[in-house]
Amino acid sequence: MKTILVTGGMGYIGSHTVVELINKNYDVIIVDNLYNSNKIVLKRINIITGVTPKFYEVDCCDYNNFEKIFKENKIDAVIHFAGLKAVGESVNLPLKYYQNNLISTLNLIDLMNKYNVKNLVFSSSATVYGAPKSVPIDETFDLHVTNPYGRTKLMIEDMLRDYCFVNKDFNCALLRYFNPIGAHKSGLIGENPNGIPNNLMPYITQVAIGKREFLGIFGNDYNTVDGTGVRDYIHVCDLALGHVLTLDKLFTNSGLVTYNLGTGKGTSVLELHDAFEKACGFKIPYKIMPRRAGDIDSCYANCDKAYKEIGFKAQYNIDDMCKDSWNWQKNNPDGYTE
Ligand code: NAD
Ligand code: UD1
Repeated sequence: MKTILVTGGMGYIGSHTVVELINKNYDVIIVDNLYNSNKIVLKRINIITGVTPKFYEVDCCDYNNFEKIFKENKIDAVIHFAGLKAVGESVNLPLKYYQNNLISTLNLIDLMNKYNVKNLVFSSSATVYGAPKSVPIDETFDLHVTNPYGRTKLMIEDMLRDYCFVNKDFNCALLRYFNPIGAHKSGLIGENPNGIPNNLMPYITQVAIGKREFLGIFGNDYNTVDGTGVRDYIHVCDLALGHVLTLDKLFTNSGLVTYNLGTGKGTSVLELHDAFEKACGFKIPYKIMPRRAGDIDSCYANCDKAYKEIGFKAQYNIDDMCKDSWNWQKNNPDGYTE
């Protein structure tokens, strides 16, 4: 049985990936400082899988306490989700983002080197493509970022590329996620944002549950099918499975690999809104608002490389994603509570 250390494993994507890893018989250790997550997630993981993973409440920026995990356990691979991810906040508090995202990762790489752990999956983002020259976007596209959050992702990618260049026995996957939404079909784990959601799906679900009055649609004059922004939404359980497939690849001594993880299909804001109404069975009021600064018209992935090299292909469609997001929100109107 291989042991996987999952940093940020209590968070949205991390918790779904932990479930998938346990289902595939991996032994899982979670490290998370609970900055953006809740301890109840551990209990929910147990209800879904029958297993409670070992959990360390540790900040990955705290080298000494982080090191204890490597001393106490024999780790085969690390999946590194831990990080801050709010684009708007990163513009206002750039140092917070550089400190947290870069130092945690530097500590991690140093400890992996010290304890001879050779396999790493890193959570990158489609944000590294900035405003792409065309869609669909493949992994060879130019990289340029437009905000501090995105810059931390690109800096970490660069750091890992440099590290892999001289450490040929280090296996590392840079996974560029598109827009994860949805939740585990049990409705026990899901996305649980603090405060006013920045992203589209959690905003829609909060309108549906009665926490927000209406959805503001940021612009309907983009060059897209109906004028609203087009994105590549991927079910979080498909994304989670992508990590398990990636680990199989790393264990063949892959060296450095980079994959887009999306569905390859673009969906507009209005299309997602309509699909959600179908899933919940009632109307979701919306108003057209001005464009949001920094937004682009279309962003969706070409996922051929992930399909060819790791057999990754998203299974769930937009209707499934809306159904599962709604099921999660309906069962947990106030997020994680006992
Ligand atoms: P999340 O906030 O739900 O999960 C991140 C987890 O990391 C949280 O539980 C948080 O408490 C923890 N964490 C943060 N800093 C830490 C630190 N220094 N030490 C220990 N734990 C720490 O976010 P998510 O949506 O699950 O995203 C996971 C990763 O995927 C992030 O790196 C994010 O940037 C990346 N990503 C997310 C999206 C998305 O749309 N959700 C898209 C692209 C990339
Ligand atoms: C955002 C981040 C991106 C990050 C990604 C996943 C920005 C500018 N980009 O991408 O870096 O990797 O999340 O976490 O924040 N929309 C509305 N109303 C809303 C919210 C969103 O109309 O209340 C629209 C947006 O204009 C966009 C689409 O919905 O067209 C998706 O937005 P969002 O969910 O925030 O994701 P991205 O902008 O793709």
